[in-house]
Amino acid sequence: MLRLSVFLSMLYLVQCIQYKNNVCLSLNDYKTIYRNKNCSYNPDVLSSPKLIARRYGYPLETITVTTKDRYILTLHRIPKSANSKSDENVRRPPILMFHGVGGSSAFYMLQGKRSLGFYLSDHGYDVWLGNWRGNLYSNKHVNYSTSSLKYWNFGFHEMAIYDLPACIDLIANRTGEKGNLIYVGHSMGTTVSYIYSSLMRKHAEENLKSIISLAPVAFMGNIKGSFKLLAPFVPLFRTILNLKGFYAIGHVIGFQRALLPLVCGSYPFINICNILLLSSVGLSEKEYQPELLPIFFSYFPSGISVKTLEHYSQIISSNGRFQMYDFGPAGNLQKYNQSTPPEYDLSEISVPVHLFVGSEDLIGDSKDADILQEKLCLGKSHLSAVKHTFPYAHNDFFLGKDLKPFQDVFLRVVLS
Ligand SMILES: *[C@@H]1O[C@H](CO)[C@@H](O)[C@H](O)[C@H]1NC(C)=O
Ligand SMILES: *[C@@H]1O[C@H](CO)[C@@H](O)[C@H](O)[C@H]1NC(C)=O
Ligand SMILES: *[C@@H]1O[C@H](CO)[C@@H](O)[C@H](O)[C@H]1NC(C)=O
Ligand SMILES: *[C@@H]1O[C@H](CO)[C@@H](O)[C@H](O)[C@H]1NC(C)=O
Repeated sequence: MLRLSVFLSMLYLVQCIQYKNNVCLSLNDYKTIYRNKNCSYNPDVLSSPKLIARRYGYPLETITVTTKDRYILTLHRIPKSANSKSDENVRRPPILMFHGVGGSSAFYMLQGKRSLGFYLSDHGYDVWLGNWRGNLYSNKHVNYSTSSLKYWNFGFHEMAIYDLPACIDLIANRTGEKGNLIYVGHSMGTTVSYIYSSLMRKHAEENLKSIISLAPVAFMGNIKGSFKLLAPFVPLFRTILNLKGFYAIGHVIGFQRALLPLVCGSYPFINICNILLLSSVGLSEKEYQPELLPIFFSYFPSGISVKTLEHYSQIISSNGRFQMYDFGPAGNLQKYNQSTPPEYDLSEISVPVHLFVGSEDLIGDSKDADILQEKLCLGKSHLSAVKHTFPYAHNDFFLGKDLKPFQDVFLRVVLS
């Protein structure tokens, strides 16, 4: 298997060098990628955040932080814009951005200079891009190796109580801007922020200025698409994977990563991967850009623990109730002193939240966002959660064609 993947990757690299083209404007064009005028070469495919940033003229720092439970995470920081002068010494408010399931810091750099990460840097922010435990940049632990079950025994609950506070503390220390940090999450990055700011209310209150949620996911009673259909099978799937010694999906590093864009970024496989993707995230025709698929698939999927998927499947199977991990009746009694898992108490959240919702999103449904908004506002006198809607599917907040309306509202919100 390894030898085959090395061979295929070599073949892919040779082809890229020989023909240059690796992206096309339409799915159909990928059939004739090497001699089609609608295709071109995108150097960001199979690149890295560091190289991408450098390509567009931005500095990128890599900072590691160790969590209380000893996972070692990587933060990428864009301290300055490509446009700022070297002697410039203006204050840059910090902004921390986190990705969703299977993603990485690279998600905020997939569209070259117009990506949200660079856009915010150009508008004066000190941009910090996080990587949740398990992904390709945060795959170390002081004691456990990624081949052990102990390493992968986590879900988004652990990201909320360990990863996020560790990153926030580090940024407060490095910037001296405690209390001014803006948090931006996409998809699971939003789930984590609600758990964190409800369970660690005081920490969140002292550190965060606001929470911006792109494609929010908490209550999931109205989810549609393939993820909903697959959810009931996740426990079975977990059993089978564990038997085979697998505890995560997409945990490939090094040379084998080169296989992903080969498989999912070229004809004919691109059609299959594309259908799998769209059937779970939704499609907005106007926003859809097939030329981004090879770069998206050079980073996705990355290090998804099965427990993460299982926790989401439990929420879906319990009619969308935003509840803690279900250990089974006996386990719950031990853990929570009740036989069913408790619901996360969102009325505890005291940081203002902005919900950026996609009308074409199959995962983060607009009706579920209404429920979330209602819960966030419960018992508060002022409107502490505001909803903004865009004609986007789940991933269009970073893959969409027409980002301007969204980015304009985003900037207005962070400035307020
Ligand atoms: C390139 O794209 C245009 C517009 O989508 C299409 O009409 C044309 O046939 C494509 N060219 C090739 C060589 O496939
Ligand atoms: C984890 O590693 C550290 C440093 O190597 C060591 O001090 C500690 O005892 C280890 N903890 C466990 C639980 O193995
Ligand atoms: C950062 O941490 C160091 C070491 O704990 C401490 O000396 C320093 O004062 C902290 N800086 C800020 C701005 O909190
Ligand atoms: C567990 O729940 C029971 C019944 O609700 C309560 O009486 C008891 O004090 C709880 N124990 C703990 C440790 O919270």
